Formats: sequence, structure tokens, C-alpha cells
Amino acid sequence: MHFGDYQTSIYMAGLQGIVPAIPVDFATLRRRAEEVMPPPVLNYVQGGCGDEWTQDQNAAAFRQWGMIPRMMVDCSARDLSIDLFGLHLPTPVFMAPIGVNGICTEDGHGDLAAAEASARTGVPFCASTLANDPIERVAERQGATPGFFQLYTPKDPELAASLVGRAEAAGYKALVVTLDTWVTGWRPRDLNSANFPQLRGAVLQNYFTDPVFRARLAVPPEENPQAAVLLWASLFGKVLTWDDIPWLRSLSSLPLVLKGICHPDDARRAVDLGVDAIYCSNHGGRQANGGIAAIDLLPGVVAAAGTTPVLFDSGVRSGSDVVKAIALGAAAVGIGRPYAYGLALGGAAGAEHVLRSILAEADLLMAVNGYPTIAAVREAGARRTQQLSGL
Ligand code: FNR
Repeated sequence: MHFGDYQTSIYMAGLQGIVPAIPVDFATLRRRAEEVMPPPVLNYVQGGCGDEWTQDQNAAAFRQWGMIPRMMVDCSARDLSIDLFGLHLPTPVFMAPIGVNGICTEDGHGDLAAAEASARTGVPFCASTLANDPIERVAERQGATPGFFQLYTPKDPELAASLVGRAEAAGYKALVVTLDTWVTGWRPRDLNSANFPQLRGAVLQNYFTDPVFRARLAVPPEENPQAAVLLWASLFGKVLTWDDIPWLRSLSSLPLVLKGICHPDDARRAVDLGVDAIYCSNHGGRQANGGIAAIDLLPGVVAAAGTTPVLFDSGVRSGSDVVKAIALGAAAVGIGRPYAYGLALGGAAGAEHVLRSILAEADLLMAVNGYPTIAAVREAGARRTQQLSGL
């Protein structure tokens, strides 16, 4: 079995008059999601910071990188597997943390649906601190596929310790600490509709079920949700500095991953402090506008990271984007908005289809280009078709 076989199954189903319920390409997927998603959810998922220039650049910049095919290589068997955090994973793809997965499905349990898609595909799900179902329940749905936990570090250190302890106990295999979101970026689409889901009580279940969080309240969240939301707002977003690394490390024995590193000097600093992996990302352009496309920053971060693995996301829309990111040195590649649209269009099956389509395209690209393994992709590399000045 190869991931590319998904293509054959689609064509075979076509002989019975069946076409895919959800499109296989991002542009059509996004259009279809726009038709079905409630405007506040669509704006939150699709929108970004400022005039969304950085977010658009993230995706557009992939077009300025290209790969050169090699011929006469036997690619009849492909191996997309990687080793990460001591785990052997079938593919280099993972599901990036998305804090509003929960409200992307009509039933309000999109985090569980995302976890199910992970279980069915073997693609690890990085569960966000922001969720409509607690991490323990999400973990149960991930089946045999390992998951990662993404921490939005609260100002209350005991609450941080509790959340991380729960994640470790629930079986998550890595702690991903997001660095770029101690405050929310300026997001005109959400501002123009005065909509911030968390303040409406959405996606806060990890807090509302947490014993430390509950102990800070006079009455439980079920009795006074308003007070619980206000407490959440007052505790969200610890400002982290490099001095916090030993403390973050002390919270668990999980591999520590820093999300949001884009500058080579920050990558070097993180490596010097002994982090287990770096996660190069600009949060999909949701946090700061006016930045450089993340894929253009990846090579510099990879070079600075040396042997420390670099995870990547921001702007990945297709299998060829995944292969390009690997060619540029990513150890693993995160899918973000595409699977959220899949959740909106078809729940777990929708996200599964999006992941399978991306994996099929990546696998078939490797087959055609003469790259039988991830190592071969990396060795082949990618070339910039236009010059970039700067870092
Ligand atoms: C995010 N992202 C994010 N990151 C994180 O560390 N914790 C979170 O809770 C969220 N929440 C979130 C919600 C939504 C709606 C989006 C679109 C993104 C950022 C995410 O992990 C990833 O960095 C981006 O999605 C990558 O950009 P693209 O490829 O989705 O455009």
C-alpha cells in the first residue's frame, strides 16, 4: 500500500459514478468551506492579521521554490516514514494545533473529530490548549497514533503545571510551547464582527475541567460561566523569555518543542538551551502581519538548528508543499487550515480525506520525481526561482 493509492480508489469509485464528496485541492476545498461555515467561524479560521499579506505570502511563496526531477530511479516502493521524538511515524505530516477545531464541526466536538482523523490516517494530531473537549477525551480518540500537546502557557504557573501534567498522563508524546501568542494579533475580520470565540465561552474546556483552574473560582464554571471566562482571560498569555526554558523543562519529561521560531539566532539559542525540537512557524500569519513567508525563513532556521529537528507549518496547502518543506530541511510538516476546512465539510471523514489527499499527492510527487525516501527528498533539495534578500 502506498499513500498514492488513494488516487486509484478515487478513479475506481468514479467507474460507479461516485465522485469525492469533498474536493481534493485546496482552492475548491476553501470555496466549499466558505459556503457551509457559519460566518463567525469562517472569519476566525480563514482570517489573519492586518490585511493578511503575510498569511497570503506564506502560501504564495511556495510557488517560488521548485524541485528538479531525477530519472531512472526505482521508485516503485516509497517510504515516507520518519523518526521523531523517539517515535517511528509513517509520514512526515502532522496536524497543527488549531484552537477552534471544536467549533468547526456542527456538533461542537471538532477536536474529537480531528483526533479520529489522526487515528485513521496515522498522522499525529497536535492538540491545542484551546479545545471544546478536554485533552484526556481527545487522547482516547487518537487510537494508536501518537499525539502532541500544544501549550498556551498561562500566567499561573500551577495551572501550567497542571495542564502539562494532564497531557503527559494522557499519553501525549511531546510538549509544544507556542511562543508568539501571549497576546492576540490584530485581526480585522474578527474585530469588524466583534467576535472572539473564547470570550463567548467556546473552546475553554481544558481550563474548565482543570482542578487548579476550578480551585481559583468561587463557583464552578457550570454555575457561572461568565466568571470562568473572565478568569481565563486574566490568566491567558504568560510572557515567556529564554529564562523560562528550565521551568518549562521541569514541567514534564516530554520532549520540549518551541513553536514560532523564525530567526536563526533564536534557533541557535534554543538549541544551546537544549530544546528537543524547533517549530518554525509564523502562526499562519494570524499573529503578526508584515513578516516574511515562513517557508522562506525555514532554510535559515534549519541551518542554525544543526542536528536538532525543525518542524514547520504556515502556508502548506498541498502534497507538493509538504515535499518542498522537507526538501528545505523540515523534519515534519504541519497542516493547518486545510484540515479545519475538512472538519467543517465532513467532520472526521472530511479531515481524513484532506490528509489522505495531501499524502497521496506527496507520495505520487516523490514517485514521479525519483525520490523514494524522505532522505532522498532532502538530498535533492529545492531551488529558489527568485532571489530573496535578507536573513
Ligand atoms: C491556529 N494556530 C494555532 N497555533 C497554536 O499553537 N495554538 C492554537 O490554538 C492555534 N489555533 C489556531 C486557530 C486557527 C483557526 C488557525 C488557522 C491557526 C496556528 C496553527 O498551529 C498553524 O501555525 C497555522 O495554522 C499554519 O498556517 P496555515 O498553514 O494554516 O495557513
